[in-house]
Amino acid sequence: MSDVVRLLRDQLAAEVRMLPRRARPGAAARRRLQRAGSVAEVRAAARRALPRVIHDFVDGGAGDELTVRRNVADFEAIELEPRTLVDVAQVDLSTELLGRRLALPIVGAPTGLCGLVHGDGEVALARGLHAAGSAYALAAMGSYSIEEVAAAAPGGALWFQTYLWRDRGLVRELVARARAAGYEALVVTVDVPRAASRDRDRRNGFGLPPRITPRSALDGLLRPEWTYRFLTRPRLTAASVADGRLADGDSVSVAAYVDRQFDPAADWADLAWLREQWEGPLVVKGVLSAADARRAVERGAQAVAVSNHGGRQLDRAISSIRALPAVVAAVGDRAEVIVDGGVRRGVDVIAALALGARAVMVGRPIVFGLGAGGEAGVRHVLEILERELRGSLALLGCPRVAELDSSFLAPARAMGAPAREAGAPTAATAERPTRREG
Ligand SMILES: Cc1cc2nc3c(=O)[nH]c(=O)nc-3n(C[C@H](O)[C@H](O)[C@H](O)COP(=O)(O)O)c2cc1C
Repeated sequence: MSDVVRLLRDQLAAEVRMLPRRARPGAAARRRLQRAGSVAEVRAAARRALPRVIHDFVDGGAGDELTVRRNVADFEAIELEPRTLVDVAQVDLSTELLGRRLALPIVGAPTGLCGLVHGDGEVALARGLHAAGSAYALAAMGSYSIEEVAAAAPGGALWFQTYLWRDRGLVRELVARARAAGYEALVVTVDVPRAASRDRDRRNGFGLPPRITPRSALDGLLRPEWTYRFLTRPRLTAASVADGRLADGDSVSVAAYVDRQFDPAADWADLAWLREQWEGPLVVKGVLSAADARRAVERGAQAVAVSNHGGRQLDRAISSIRALPAVVAAVGDRAEVIVDGGVRRGVDVIAALALGARAVMVGRPIVFGLGAGGEAGVRHVLEILERELRGSLALLGCPRVAELDSSFLAPARAMGAPAREAGAPTAATAERPTRREG
């Protein structure tokens, strides 16, 4: 740490100690978080807590962010057909996923570099998901290492996400470390043959080393809590990668190393190679077509995650909820299907499960929770989604998430009815999944 940074940190720490408790940075943020009653409101709270460059890194996507928006819009366009006079005094949200019973069908998606959002980063995410009784997928690009996260959430259902990086030795090492640390499933993300260009990040000068401008400096000063944590607990780097190969590497050289690691030549044979490295359940994440889902399952995947990386890779890629039914029809009888991208409400989880998914993953919602209030914020988001899911399930007249199927989807609108959001699935356009077993 440079002398200037150390000086700034010490000065800030001294100033903070002199403030009365209620005026300390964090008190207002905590109140805002407590008042937030929806994921959208938590996002707004995070927006106030985070410098723009960090907020945009989380919120943004590739290109014109069409896929980011369609992920959400296509969920919103799905209509449900409720049943009445069903006993919903008790509703059961639990689901069986990759051999584990989870209290919620909502898994924490892998999201890299969360230490930039909050000093507790992936540790807070893992703990929050564990408290909610669900699973969390740690990203290889996480700011905390495989071992740190496992130690922070003992007994939690942890998955580890990797890429098919050029340096297969590194991939093998990471997989071995995940096995040794007790991770239960391996997720391989296949939609990053190369890093995509994200306009907001480019404009904001996001990257390592960060571009410090007068505006970004002012932004930091206006968010003293984030700045204080950032200066006192810098978590800039992908810890597992740095620990594995680049023990002496600073964050800038780790970032440069990782940038070179995305392998545009990786193909299905490489997936078969990875399958041999890991005995446990394998999830292939980033599949958007029936054909790819079949290829993944033929190479030994137990689950596919229908995902467009939250609209952060190919802009104009099909929304994940629209891609889901064809994947379920292709492999739903042989593999578990997970979907992510655009889940913002409990009722979105219902729509995804009615279309044949076993569970959803959420990325931005929990990272916004992290930004708005650390582990408490993550828990808060999961409580919101749990409460909404429970409430909507009762109103739908379905006592168990395991009973959701396409019979709960409304029939397609009649001719002449108001136009749907472009591209949104309806019960008619969606290939209907068959009722899931178990
Ligand atoms: C800040 C951020 C970082 C991400 N990093 C990764 C990553 O390292 N690996 C990965 O497979 N997906 C990554 N993703 C994609 C998520 O796993 C997930 O597919 C996406 O966030 C789902 O969309 P949602 O944000 O609308 O829920 C990231 C997403 C965000 C928002």
